[in-house]
Amino acid sequence: MNFEFTEEQLMIRQAARDYAQRELIQDVIERDEKAIYPTRHIHTLAELGFLGMLVAPEYDGGGMDTVSYVLAMEEISKVDSSVGVILSVNNSLVCYGLEMYGTEAQKQEFLKPLARGDKIGAFLLSEPGAGSDASSQQTTAIDKGDHYLMNGVKNWITSGHTASIYIVIAQTDRAKGHRGINAFIVDRYAEGITLGPHENKMGMRSSDTHSVQFTDVKVPKENRIGEDGFGFKFAMKALEGGRIGIASQALGIASGAYELAVKYAKERKAFGTQIINHQAIAFKLSDMATQIEAARFLCVKAAWLKDQGQPYGVASAMAKQFTADMAMQVTTEAVQIHGGYGYVKEYHVERLMRDAKLTQIYEGTSEIQKIVISRAIAKGDI
Ligand code: CAA
Repeated sequence: MNFEFTEEQLMIRQAARDYAQRELIQDVIERDEKAIYPTRHIHTLAELGFLGMLVAPEYDGGGMDTVSYVLAMEEISKVDSSVGVILSVNNSLVCYGLEMYGTEAQKQEFLKPLARGDKIGAFLLSEPGAGSDASSQQTTAIDKGDHYLMNGVKNWITSGHTASIYIVIAQTDRAKGHRGINAFIVDRYAEGITLGPHENKMGMRSSDTHSVQFTDVKVPKENRIGEDGFGFKFAMKALEGGRIGIASQALGIASGAYELAVKYAKERKAFGTQIINHQAIAFKLSDMATQIEAARFLCVKAAWLKDQGQPYGVASAMAKQFTADMAMQVTTEAVQIHGGYGYVKEYHVERLMRDAKLTQIYEGTSEIQKIVISRAIAKGDI
């Protein structure tokens, strides 16, 4: 067993850290407060190769491994997890799904601009009545010969406005249950697509989240991904990788809050000494450091399994559930250590606490991850 990262992995982590600490930090509070999309940063991160990190170079991606992706996501999300989620959805839900299951023509036309970051992708699975219960899709895509006709509503769509390529999961044959679901590549500017208002979220405020309505939208036949009826499994496979991205994002939120808490505890004095010298604070920091380290192992292990071509669905569910729940605890403690200062925006930790909450909800709630893990236990897979 080797616990050391390679030189290349460390270089990628350093590049992400440099950009986050030098650039992302500058206007992060304003972006959060005013819910401003980080356009300039997404362009620069695209130029640096962070939008298509896992995609093979032949499709204009960075050809990096998933461990590097975890390290980069952690560094970026330490400072701005809204940027983290935009990268995560593009990299591990949209690009990965297309690279794994798209046709050569789909990869040439859609994957390449997504991997370069010239275009942003969104993943449209959730619906008003189908969140955790993802197979009860109500959006329909009816086969009309040379095209499908799509109708329905998707919600909570990350990058719903800024994305120009959608991957949409829809029901093509209700009688077949989950085997009657398909995944489609849809042009966000196609006739019949309308967006709901920008969601005014508690956290991750500078990533744009919208509902999307489809009214008689024509989707070309060749835009279906995979064999007929593969859509639900496609979504599940994409989410296995996506959950590594969100787990790493949660890891970054927690380690960002922890680093700020350590810094503050070394500076702030109370009762005649720095507060880190009080056991009440020192033990909190000790628990935070241990929890973060455990989470990092889970994230890296899931990524490593994926890089080795081994099954990683349960590992990614464990990483996501543990890390998201841990991030909520660690950020709450970081606010507590800061006292009143933790409750105001300038000290960053209140934002990290608000951001942490969403990692327990999207790409499968913590409870859904426990379903995935416990079903694997019942089947004897782990
Ligand atoms: N890989 C391949 N196939 C899988 C699979 C996987 N990981 N998981 C399930 N399947 C297959 C099963 O084998 C089964 O196929 P067969 O009948 O042919 O054997 C089929 O899918 C149905 O499986 P289940 O009966 O287990 O399905 P279920 O209805 O009980 O649901 C679930 C399982 C895990 C709860 C799933 O519904 C789920 O993951 N729900 C959460 C949805 C989610 O994560 N949404 C996030 C939205 S995206 C988002 O948030 C993006 C963003 O913008 C940030």
